[in-house]
Amino acid sequence: MKKPTHTLQRIMCVLLAFGFIWCLSLPYFILGNAEQEDTGVTGNDRLVRPDQVWKEKKEGRAKDRMKSIVKVVDDLLNIVEAADDFAPPLPLRDYKAELKTLQIEMETEKEKGKMRNEMIKELRSDKVHLQQQVAYLEELLKLQAENREKTIQQAKSEDQIKEDGNCPLPLMDGYPDCKGKLKWMKEMWKTDPCYSRYGVNGSLCSILIYLSEIESWCPVLPGRAAPSPQAENSEAGSDQAVIRDSLDGLYPSLENRVQFRWIHQRIQSMGEVWVKAGRSLSAKYNLTERKAKHILVHPGAVTDESGFRIAEAAFNGGPLGELVQWSDLISTLQILGHHLHLSASIPDLQSFLGIKTSGCPPHSKVEVNLIYTDIIGLKQFQNVLKTSWIKYKCMIRVLDTFGTEPDFNHAVWAQKHNLRGPFGGLNLIPAQFYTMFPHTPDNTFLGFVVPHQLNAKESEQTKRQNQALVYGKRAEFWEGKESYLDIIHKYLDVHGTVDVSSRIPNYVKNHGIIRGTEVQALLRQSKVFVGLSFPYEGPAPLEAIANGCAFLNPRLFPPQSSLNSQFFKGKPNIREVTSQHPYAEAIGEPYVWTIDMYNKTEVEKALTAILNQSIEPYLPYEFTCEGMLQRVNVLIEKQDLCSSTASWPPLSALQVVQAEAGTSCKQACQKMGLICEPAFFPHLNSTRNLANYSVDCQTSEVSDSDLVLPAFNNTSKHCLLQSDPLLFSCVRSNQSLIRICPCRDYIKDQIALCKACI
Ligand SMILES: *[C@@H]1O[C@H](CO)[C@@H](O)[C@H](O)[C@H]1NC(C)=O
Ligand SMILES: *[C@@H]1O[C@H](CO)[C@@H](O)[C@H](O)[C@H]1NC(C)=O
Ligand SMILES: *[C@@H]1O[C@H](CO)[C@@H](O)[C@H](O)[C@H]1NC(C)=O
Ligand SMILES: *[C@@H]1O[C@H](CO)[C@@H](O)[C@H](O)[C@H]1NC(C)=O
Ligand SMILES: *[C@@H]1O[C@H](CO)[C@@H](O)[C@H](O)[C@H]1NC(C)=O
Ligand SMILES: *[C@@H]1O[C@H](CO)[C@@H](O)[C@H](O)[C@H]1NC(C)=O
Ligand SMILES: *[C@@H]1O[C@H](CO)[C@@H](O)[C@H](O)[C@H]1NC(C)=O
Ligand SMILES: *[C@@H]1O[C@H](CO)[C@@H](O)[C@H](O)[C@H]1NC(C)=O
Ligand SMILES: *[C@@H]1O[C@H](CO)[C@@H](O)[C@H](O)[C@H]1NC(C)=O
Repeated sequence: MKKPTHTLQRIMCVLLAFGFIWCLSLPYFILGNAEQEDTGVTGNDRLVRPDQVWKEKKEGRAKDRMKSIVKVVDDLLNIVEAADDFAPPLPLRDYKAELKTLQIEMETEKEKGKMRNEMIKELRSDKVHLQQQVAYLEELLKLQAENREKTIQQAKSEDQIKEDGNCPLPLMDGYPDCKGKLKWMKEMWKTDPCYSRYGVNGSLCSILIYLSEIESWCPVLPGRAAPSPQAENSEAGSDQAVIRDSLDGLYPSLENRVQFRWIHQRIQSMGEVWVKAGRSLSAKYNLTERKAKHILVHPGAVTDESGFRIAEAAFNGGPLGELVQWSDLISTLQILGHHLHLSASIPDLQSFLGIKTSGCPPHSKVEVNLIYTDIIGLKQFQNVLKTSWIKYKCMIRVLDTFGTEPDFNHAVWAQKHNLRGPFGGLNLIPAQFYTMFPHTPDNTFLGFVVPHQLNAKESEQTKRQNQALVYGKRAEFWEGKESYLDIIHKYLDVHGTVDVSSRIPNYVKNHGIIRGTEVQALLRQSKVFVGLSFPYEGPAPLEAIANGCAFLNPRLFPPQSSLNSQFFKGKPNIREVTSQHPYAEAIGEPYVWTIDMYNKTEVEKALTAILNQSIEPYLPYEFTCEGMLQRVNVLIEKQDLCSSTASWPPLSALQVVQAEAGTSCKQACQKMGLICEPAFFPHLNSTRNLANYSVDCQTSEVSDSDLVLPAFNNTSKHCLLQSDPLLFSCVRSNQSLIRICPCRDYIKDQIALCKACI
């Protein structure tokens, strides 16, 4: 048994050593040549300077690589030698010595410097290749060692295994490997933490349970049942989603992940409200007959691997928008009765996707129906799955706060038109991007929930003071706003929730960074919530109006976008943000006062008007729990991006509008009190259908060189159709073309849904 193993090992060692020497000597020769050639080429020293620095860096790196390769080989040889204790030793030591000499020679060569960049590159690729081969061989050897260990174990398995009083050994008939495995596990269970996750604690009993139920090497213990894959399948397949009346089922998987700490806190603090909203929605609509889907939720930004640390920063005044949205999405999915699978790390993801990374088998695999992640999470997903991620592509929904416009999403278009940034070029269907606010109708509006006053009684209890609360947790938001704040201070007491170390005007009563519920209490005592013009488009202003404050919303001059603002730079859209909070701006007076904060007259006018009014708390339905439940439920049930035949919203909702030249469909629909619905673009991409909407195409042409198609020329009656479905877009316009726009109606305060959609 042992003999052939050893021969194989030896052959491999020899091969390895030769391969290594070959690879080392190759660059040696190349270097020799390079040196000769170099003498002829170096005529322009001064010009070469910056290059030189670069070269030296590379050389240093190359040296490091070489060292690490040598180390790997050394280790490898050590392993082989150690394993080889009873065979007559091969002259491995000699090889090693030779390798060392070679290495020393190489290094002297390098000391002489003067390597040329191309040579170095070539060398590096050689080295990488060698490294890969070494890794491969190493793996082979390991595998062999393992095999040998197994045989040894089997040979020794006749040795008695100490019986456990609680766990009499069952009959091993039909399980020839059981004893060997037991023995191995007894010693090795600590080598991989995954075993203890399955309940192995070193006791014979726990090992037997593991080996019989998780892996199937041993017979199942009397009185225990092996988990049947059948049962799980039926759960995955056909069960119905029932509105849950508690979020309790969610807490265990939130509690055991530190990345979800903030999310857990928010969900728990709103648990009661969610449950009530679920009841209320199911009283209004027939929510039976829905299939329970398996939904994977992987917020890439909270993973430690992303390096973003937003999960921790959230407790220190960091941005909360994403975490708010994730919390509310998770609550929504749970209330709606779906099967939720939470992932907060790459190992979580691998485990869920059934990618084996350790000694234990992957968790039972479920057929996932829907995946919520973000751009970072999507990249992690692609890394974990390599090319097979495509299989999941149409199920993915990407939470994308500010939105991705179609031209930025289209990889080839973006490259050709210089729109490349860190986030675009994903080639998803634009509706797969889920935004925080209804930005471009090309994306889907997911939204979030604004916690608000529970009932009128509560509002009577707290009397509003002559008080303003400033929106800004970090000192830099306050910089340069003193005169603006001074005006406000003339009318109201000014309170803040700023990082305590910040330098702020001394009349500000600062509460420091406080919890969400405390902020809400402060809002209920205040009359005005004061925007400082940054941060843009956060959740807080809606929270303020929902708690009865008026919001002072600074206008932005000029409007900010990725073209002129550091903050939006690199974001995959060119949407112009006209004030700190455009959604609030659209709500308007008496709730939202959009002002120029540097114009004293304007600020004072707004303040007097606010103080001379009394407003009720106001919150658009789409930002309530019930509104979010309604919206997300319809999206889950109806928005099918995997099937090419599915069409939603229903075509009956379509209203065709011709945009004036130079106008986008977003604007044209809005002007008619409608919203652009990109799902209808394919229907309008046909001269026959266009004829029905009184667009008379006498000639037509198909093109993929514009984002405004279908469109037509009013003079020549020439129609232009779109050939690339990813280039349909609501948001662009062309001065010389009339766009034919697919619009639809929407439910008031639930803009994501058409009236016939529910
Ligand atoms: C180890 O696990 C077994 C089976 O799960 C259990 O009966 C036993 O109490 C555990 N022992 C310890 C020390 O936890
Ligand atoms: C809900 O709809 C299903 C069919 O879609 C129907 O069988 C059921 O009776 C309805 N339930 C109620 C309460 O209307
Ligand atoms: C300030 O606002 C007032 C009222 O809106 C306006 O009449 C005035 O021109 C503005 N002043 C400046 C300097 O912009
Ligand atoms: C204050 O409100 C009263 C009526 O409620 C109105 O007549 C008056 O013009 C208001 N004053 C200002 C400055 O808005
Ligand atoms: C055009 O409209 C007519 C009647 O309104 C309808 O019967 C026909 O199916 C439509 N044709 C197309 C291509 O939509
Ligand atoms: C197209 O041209 C006709 C007359 O030339 C005009 O009446 C019509 O309004 C134009 N349509 C659009 C959408 O501009
Ligand atoms: C529209 O048609 C007229 C007449 O054929 C032509 O002169 C004009 O260039 C066309 N415009 C575009 C944008 O194709
Ligand atoms: C639009 O219609 C044209 C002409 O029928 C067709 O060639 C093209 O593929 C269509 N585009 C899309 C995205 O379906
Ligand atoms: C507008 O459309 C015309 C005709 O298709 C095209 O030549 C031109 O480049 C477009 N302009 C822009 C800004 O896209």
